[in-house]
Amino acid sequence: MRSVYLYKRTFIISITLVSILIVFTKCINNQNKKQEQKEENVLTGSVITYDQFAGSETCAKCHQSITDNYFHTAHFYTSQNAAEQSIKGSFIHGKNSFTYDVGKIVSLEKKQDSFYQVYYYKGKEVVRRRFDIVIGSGTNGQTYLSWIGNHIIELPVSYFTQVHQWANSPGYPLSPIIFNRPVTARCLECHATFAQAINYNPDIPPMFDSSKMILTVGCEKCHGPAAQHVAYEEQHPNDSIGKFIVNPAKLTRQLSLDVCALCHSGRLDELKPPFQFIPGDSLNDFYTSSDVSKKAGVMDVHGNQLGVLSASKCFQLSKTMTCVTCHDPHTNERNNTTLFSQRCQSCHTNQHKAIEGLPDDVVKNNCIDCHMPLQESTSISFLLQNKTQPVNAMMRTHYITVYNDETKKFIKQYTSSQKKKL
Ligand code: HEC
Ligand code: HEC
Ligand code: HEC
Ligand code: HEC
Ligand code: HEC
Ligand code: HEC
Ligand code: HEC
Repeated sequence: MRSVYLYKRTFIISITLVSILIVFTKCINNQNKKQEQKEENVLTGSVITYDQFAGSETCAKCHQSITDNYFHTAHFYTSQNAAEQSIKGSFIHGKNSFTYDVGKIVSLEKKQDSFYQVYYYKGKEVVRRRFDIVIGSGTNGQTYLSWIGNHIIELPVSYFTQVHQWANSPGYPLSPIIFNRPVTARCLECHATFAQAINYNPDIPPMFDSSKMILTVGCEKCHGPAAQHVAYEEQHPNDSIGKFIVNPAKLTRQLSLDVCALCHSGRLDELKPPFQFIPGDSLNDFYTSSDVSKKAGVMDVHGNQLGVLSASKCFQLSKTMTCVTCHDPHTNERNNTTLFSQRCQSCHTNQHKAIEGLPDDVVKNNCIDCHMPLQESTSISFLLQNKTQPVNAMMRTHYITVYNDETKKFIKQYTSSQKKKL
């Protein structure tokens, strides 16, 4: 009896020991895996919060030249606090109003250090809202946001750079004049680095914590929240390998595209709360393409470069092309046509067929106007005062192909510029 008991006891003890060992090894393995994953891809899977960000200014200490360059990019200027320098429109008397209809005027006013949009009906003030956040670098235009409690609304009057005038906000009716359209979280997700949503619920207008908002499309939007990276590198100044940070260059083609696609693939439908996607994640786990953007022929250029590029042979028939093939994400290279044309020639090394009427070097230095012509954006489109049709901003198409009419236009312009020189 006793020996059976002893045997049983030993058996139980061994089993327990073995199980403990198994569990223990598993734990270690899991921990190793987690650690590996964490080092590769900082925070994937965990909830992203405000405290995990270090801010773009912090990076300057160790990545000086990248940071200096970055401060001149459209990403940096795309959202700012409202101030004299950030608002492009004029507050000078005579230029500071938008007339909606007889007796219905929105006036743009400065009072001490604040700026307001004020609706006057037959000369009487009806609504007054402050400019709080500026959206848009002003390359094409700007739209302004205003806090009402924890909500953010878009103001009715925007600024259109092409004509240097105030304009009706894109998609806004002329009547009634709207001062309460809530800003979606997606709007901020594409134009800012982080906003802390309060009680996220996709069915009601979002609420945000104004003390936990990071404006600009900052370094950490493309590299992941970096407080841990900064802390680690500060404590290990002799370590030459970057830890707890994502370098998109080391991601697969699809995941690298996803970093930009978060904001450059047009309308998407949310599967998860906003501001949780970070570089290294698969965008498919967070968003599905929206039915609106699937409508054939709709060139939703407000942020849909990926969709348009994907239709091009360059993209389909090269195995490596990403956005970074042509764009240096840290530098403002706007209108540097020669530089972009050199990047085309990293793949198109054969000399171009001669084009009648153009010297070869002219063809060589500007692939862009003929193969990626400017087209009208139907979504960045502003209605001006006393006009019935909106004016569309001109955007580069990323559908890279042969446009015969553009070639004719190019030759004509070149010929007349040569004549002028004579
Ligand atoms: C205390 C110094 C320090 C600070 C501050 C710092 N970094 Fe780094 N970072 C490093 C070092 C060191 C490396 C490794 C060497 C290298 O790649 O330059 C690195 C590497 C990187 C890499 C490349 C990683 C890779 O795998 O190739 C990225 C991206 C990066 N840092 C982004 C940032 C961003 C964004 C910030 C600001 C939020 C930042 N760093 C702040 C020191 C720092
Ligand atoms: C968080 C959203 C977001 C991400 C991520 C993002 N962009 Fe952008 N990007 C924008 C917005 C918004 C603008 C428009 C800025 C403006 O003019 O106000 C923009 C503008 C640009 C421009 C035009 C620059 C100019 O000088 O006018 C280029 C080029 C660009 N992005 C490329 C990229 C590439 C490449 C990536 C990925 C490596 C990327 N973007 C990632 C939101 C984003
Ligand atoms: C719009 C997205 C975007 C923004 C904003 C951005 N980066 Fe990058 N960064 C990238 C991409 C993409 C790469 C990989 C480039 C490549 O493939 O050559 C990269 C590479 C890097 C690298 C490693 C390679 C190198 O060039 O040394 C560092 C370090 C870095 N970024 C730091 C920063 C810092 C610091 C900021 C802010 C001041 C910043 N980045 C802002 C997209 C971005
Ligand atoms: C899917 C991402 C995305 C969303 C959502 C989005 N934008 Fe944009 N926005 C962009 C990109 C990318 C650009 C650069 C131009 C382009 O590609 O069409 C841009 C350009 C702009 C510009 C012109 C900037 C300039 O000077 O050229 C304004 C103004 C603007 N957006 C305002 C808004 C406002 C306001 C909202 C929300 C109500 C919004 N956008 C929603 C991505 C987005
Ligand atoms: C990563 C490599 C790569 C880069 C960079 C690249 N292309 Fe292409 N491109 C291709 C491939 C591959 C094809 C399809 C095979 C071919 O026609 O050579 C192609 C096709 C084309 C075509 C024919 C399209 C058609 O519909 O018949 C044009 C035009 C073109 N590219 C222009 C450009 C221009 C302009 C640039 C720069 C803005 C550029 N490419 C950059 C790889 C590239
Ligand atoms: C084959 C080269 C090429 C590739 C790949 C490419 N672009 Fe561009 N992109 C250009 C050129 C050229 C321009 C015009 C630049 C200029 O004139 O300032 C441009 C302009 C832009 C602009 C500004 C549009 C405007 O008209 O104001 C944005 C935003 C942009 N690209 C985003 C992207 C994104 C996001 C990707 C990846 C999905 C991408 N690009 C891939 C060549 C490319
Ligand atoms: C003045 C307008 C113009 C300029 C500038 C121009 N192209 Fe073209 N390109 C054309 C036309 C038109 C065609 C189609 C007729 C042909 O094949 O000659 C074409 C054809 C092409 C093709 C397709 C060739 C094929 O066999 O299908 C490629 C690739 C291409 N161009 C790339 C470039 C690159 C790269 C540059 C800049 C170095 C450039 N183009 C500059 C007008 C232009």
